[in-house]
Amino acid sequence: MRISVVGGGYVGLVSCVCLAELGHHIDLIEIDERKVRAINSGRPTIFEKGLDEYLSVHIGKSLYVTDCFDEVSKSDIVFICVGTPQAIEGAMDISMVRIASESIGDSLRNCQGYRVIAIKSTVLPGTTQNFIAPIILKRSGLDSRGLGFVANPEFLREGRAVEDFMNPDRIIIGSEDETAGDLVELAYKKLDAPVMRTSTSAAEMIKYASNAFLAAKISLANEIGNICKKMGIDSYDVMRGVGMDHRISPQFLNVGVGFGGSCFPKDVSALIYLAEKLGDDPIILRSVLKVNEDQPIRIVNMLHERLGDLDGRKIAVLGLSFKNGTDDVRESRSIPVINELKRRGARVFAYDPLAEQAMRKEISDIEYCSKAEHALRDAEGCLVMTEWSEFRSLDNEFSLMKSKVIIEGRRILSYVDKEGICW
Ligand code: UDX
Repeated sequence: MRISVVGGGYVGLVSCVCLAELGHHIDLIEIDERKVRAINSGRPTIFEKGLDEYLSVHIGKSLYVTDCFDEVSKSDIVFICVGTPQAIEGAMDISMVRIASESIGDSLRNCQGYRVIAIKSTVLPGTTQNFIAPIILKRSGLDSRGLGFVANPEFLREGRAVEDFMNPDRIIIGSEDETAGDLVELAYKKLDAPVMRTSTSAAEMIKYASNAFLAAKISLANEIGNICKKMGIDSYDVMRGVGMDHRISPQFLNVGVGFGGSCFPKDVSALIYLAEKLGDDPIILRSVLKVNEDQPIRIVNMLHERLGDLDGRKIAVLGLSFKNGTDDVRESRSIPVINELKRRGARVFAYDPLAEQAMRKEISDIEYCSKAEHALRDAEGCLVMTEWSEFRSLDNEFSLMKSKVIIEGRRILSYVDKEGICW
């Protein structure tokens, strides 16, 4: 198939290389010239395992990158993969979706044949039908004989996105028009995964509901973990036992300092916003965020209890990315932790194997170290914020500390003299 992908960000770029790997001809449309140049010369603009291999195989052969929308009219399917960041009060900012839809509509003006617009961007239920479709239909002058619309959400995890794309748990295809859904289903026919067909709005809601459910699972586990901590119970043992119930599953029961990333906080906020707009009171969703906002303060409070006043004390923060395997610091729990440490006057020395540059853009006035041992030298306390596997082997480095108060926000250290936020 001939496929255009609009938006070369995280979801867009991964989708491009994987769709090329599935045998399709891909045109990626990206308005940022810097990204166009980088991707065309085989350099991925994000860090993602397996991405560079696929990119080097397909770029210039079955994958092309451009900043103009000309190729859209030659495509069987156009995937919209632009970002939908959080706007004020938790609402979703769909300005990039609007711009992409307008450009797609303009480029399809007076086109013959039939093609499908498939939306991968995370958008609130109703957006495909009530916002995207009307814009594209109006700008193109086409009707449902020439254009179909599909909501096809992505469930990729950062750090495992290529693997997740090629081995999905399910493929969700939401459409009001059967032909449109069939065409998108055909694009995935080489993948061995169950396909669920539904309406566009249900498909859009499945993405929010899945992320809300996983975020809720983490916050509930963390709340139970906080109780376990007070009672001297190992919450990891508890969650291991809980996860053995197949109705619960062992996934997403790693208790700790909370969830970050580009999806969970934003999507739960958007769902709260939607519920309130509909006149509902989403008490569980609000609590999911509240627990998540409290965990970083809790770990700083623990440090305070162990050390006393933090003013002027050197504190090492190990790990800055929102999880291991990525340089992404969006909504990383390290951000509220560092800000709280700073507010209490602590001198923060931070180390991360990958995310230093990204965190510098968020927080510039702390010391960044090129090695864990530099952050730990003469520190009075240490907070472990990301489960980087290299932290597991830290040992003698801790003997450089002035006082050994080590608190883990993620369970990763094998070093004995430490405690966890919830264990
Ligand atoms: C998530 C969803 O998993 C994915 O399906 C969706 O498409 C995008 O959002 P991602 O943000 O990449 O993916 O990361 P994920 O691995 O889900 O972790 C999110 C956050 O939750 C991280 O901060 C992680 O440390 C935290 N987490 C995860 C926990 O605290 N405990 C767990 O048990 C699992």
